[in-house]
Amino acid sequence: MAKRGEKIVIACSGGKHVARKIARKINAKYSEVKTEEFPDSEIKVNLPEVKNKKVYFVQSFYKEKTDINDKIIEVLFCAYTARELKAKKVFLIAPYLAYMREDKRFNKGEAISAKIISKLFNVFNKVYAVEPHLHRFNSFKEFFSNAKKIKLDVETAEYINKNIKEPYVLVGPDSESEQWVKAVAKKLNKKYVILNKERFSSKKVKVKGEEIENKNVVIIDDIISTGNTLIEASKLIKANNIYFIGMHGLFSGNAIKNLNKKGKVVTSNSIPNKAGKIDCSKAIAKKIK
Ligand code: R5P
Repeated sequence: MAKRGEKIVIACSGGKHVARKIARKINAKYSEVKTEEFPDSEIKVNLPEVKNKKVYFVQSFYKEKTDINDKIIEVLFCAYTARELKAKKVFLIAPYLAYMREDKRFNKGEAISAKIISKLFNVFNKVYAVEPHLHRFNSFKEFFSNAKKIKLDVETAEYINKNIKEPYVLVGPDSESEQWVKAVAKKLNKKYVILNKERFSSKKVKVKGEEIENKNVVIIDDIISTGNTLIEASKLIKANNIYFIGMHGLFSGNAIKNLNKKGKVVTSNSIPNKAGKIDCSKAIAKKIK
């Protein structure tokens, strides 16, 4: 019988790349969800012993073997099952929390998906999300009462300090990116430049602003999806080396290939990929301890 309050970290299908590290850092047991898929693509989850335990499900919502929506269903099945099986507390750790970009009704009749996700995830005692995309909302509190943000400004600044030589300048490709650039700049005691972006569609953007000339230029954004925001921003830059730093590397289509032609791409490991050099597990462990 588990001791009351004993901690267990359980990796869902999108969490295995960081869950074990988190478990080690918080001295918790580690296990994985067993997921069975039926011929018609329904799934069934099977959990290890959770009774009386504080359960931390780790799920990053990205498209790989299964897609984002499958990962949502999987983690919801896990959370409801853990509650039924009398877990003491049920938490979600989301290295990358999807659907946060749909945070307003951009066009008549559209769903505000971010709000719906927050309602669905009410089943968790708390949701810990690494650098969530909070743009139109200033904080989680406004729409996601049980969620907590985990920042990576320290880790990003450390990466820059260790790997990028002076002189360099920090740049944000659009006004929304300022929250990330500013936080990192503060840690590095550097000034920064913010450009302006106009979005025409999910794939087409235009970035305007001053031309930036320096030996090294580091552009920081939260999400890299098509990579077009960063590629457009790089058109205003004259530098020997351009570094593209993203909190989350979604890399849809040819993003990584296109960005690699222009500079070096670095992201956190919230989503597993080769650019994931900034480890988010330490910041997660610190927050949930
Ligand atoms: C937008 O609001 C985000 O902060 C990113 O700038 C955006 O998601 C990047 O998308 P993409 O790589 O497709 O330009």
